[in-house]
Amino acid sequence: MSTKPEASDVTAPTSSRESSETLTITDNRTGSTYEVPITDGAIRSLDLRQIKVDEDDFGLLAYDPAFMNTASCRSTITFLDGDLGVLEYRGYPIEQLAEQSTYLEVAYLLVHGELPTKAQLDDWTHQIKMHTFVHENVKSFIQGFRHDAHPMGMLLGAVGALSTFYPDANKIHDAENRQLQTVRLIAKMPTLAAFSYRHNMGQPYVYPDNDLDYAGNFLGMLYKMTELKYQPDPRLERALDILFILHADHEQNCSTSAVRAIGSSLVDPYSAIAGGVAALYGPSHGGANEEVVRMLLRIGTKDNIPDFIEGVKAGRERLMGFGHRVYKNYDPRARIIKKACDDVFEVTGVNPLLSIATELEKIALGEEYFVSRRLYPNVDFYSGLIYQALGLPASMFPVMFAIGRTSGWIAQWLEMVQDPEQKIARPLQIYTGERRRAYLPLDSRS
Ligand code: CMC
Repeated sequence: MSTKPEASDVTAPTSSRESSETLTITDNRTGSTYEVPITDGAIRSLDLRQIKVDEDDFGLLAYDPAFMNTASCRSTITFLDGDLGVLEYRGYPIEQLAEQSTYLEVAYLLVHGELPTKAQLDDWTHQIKMHTFVHENVKSFIQGFRHDAHPMGMLLGAVGALSTFYPDANKIHDAENRQLQTVRLIAKMPTLAAFSYRHNMGQPYVYPDNDLDYAGNFLGMLYKMTELKYQPDPRLERALDILFILHADHEQNCSTSAVRAIGSSLVDPYSAIAGGVAALYGPSHGGANEEVVRMLLRIGTKDNIPDFIEGVKAGRERLMGFGHRVYKNYDPRARIIKKACDDVFEVTGVNPLLSIATELEKIALGEEYFVSRRLYPNVDFYSGLIYQALGLPASMFPVMFAIGRTSGWIAQWLEMVQDPEQKIARPLQIYTGERRRAYLPLDSRS
């Protein structure tokens, strides 16, 4: 029989953290009242479990498809305020990092929590440079892909395969080992990405040049032909470095959540990050920059913009590069990228799609449909224009995103592995299917 909690029942916090703020819940099914602690503006879903109609009841749970209102971790890595359009890595505003820092310095910041000293940065840079090469067999299996394989698919396969080259990476409780895999991942991602590109082009793979900086070396592996030494244009190199900074982390987005969920099974980081690449591949996530350029090409001329916008409003089209789950304001990264476009186009000549993009943005931001839904340009709206100006095909755009995001994924994975509160990720479900049906032999089924 039910032993319903009395109205005065007070739940002990499931966490050891003290909280003076509480939430009182009255269950109208039973009339019982519960008090649950509020810590950092959140209640623990598990505190709801005590709310039962009778003893056999499983207990109340939170239903939250797509995790619209559920925090899955505590994190000190990235702060986002979607209403105000604020993004900070370890407390440093993205605008300052994009203006004054470098990608490798930002990667150090994300991974270690603090900006490096000069000596620490030199050592970190040296370590990354020492790990840019991949095993020769990696080349062989990239060669095994079809000539027109999507480079993101190749990257996904190649990153996962690295776990077979470094079987010791599964010693995830060994701090030194984790650091080694961290360096390897950040160092090798551009090499794998560039090999995928060269494979599509039918061109020989270019080995890393460790005299060059991170972005410059990547450009070299993409574009070096017969010249003895590839010399990147410093303005393009800097623009690319800024793009890597802007993409480095974005707290618990789809791909990062995938990395954490997969990593929570205690698998090696290459396997977890392959899952991140897979999640990023989708057109609602990192694949959006590719879709933006395809959309702009389809629109073709400024005259066609009004028709296109009508199609969006009627639900026939989606304005790619607009909207965000968190940002309900201008994505601060989009603002910085828009500015970086000018520097790149100074070298490459203006991308003709830019005028369509700026006009599209202007018209969309004046339309009630977008205003009322608070849809603004996101990071992907302008990044594709820069990649295109750099000579990259649209299929490479999500790959560029993945290179930058690797430092964020690994920082989040490191935090997750060391968080004593984390366990294997395992959501619940609300089962709505059939129950206890009698099996029918094949010849009895109509
Ligand atoms: N074009 C037209 N309508 C849109 C768009 C868009 N890009 N984005 C959202 N909406 C509408 C949507 O139809 C819905 O309207 P209604 O309320 O009438 O049904 C409303 O706005 C709310 O949208 P939602 O789909 O519930 O929002 P979400 O938070 O689930 O989706 C999103 C976020 C990014 C998936 C979505 O805005 C989208 O598909 N944008 C285009 C793809 C894109 O640019 N993705 C890159 C995101 S930034 C890079 C990254 O972090 O991966």
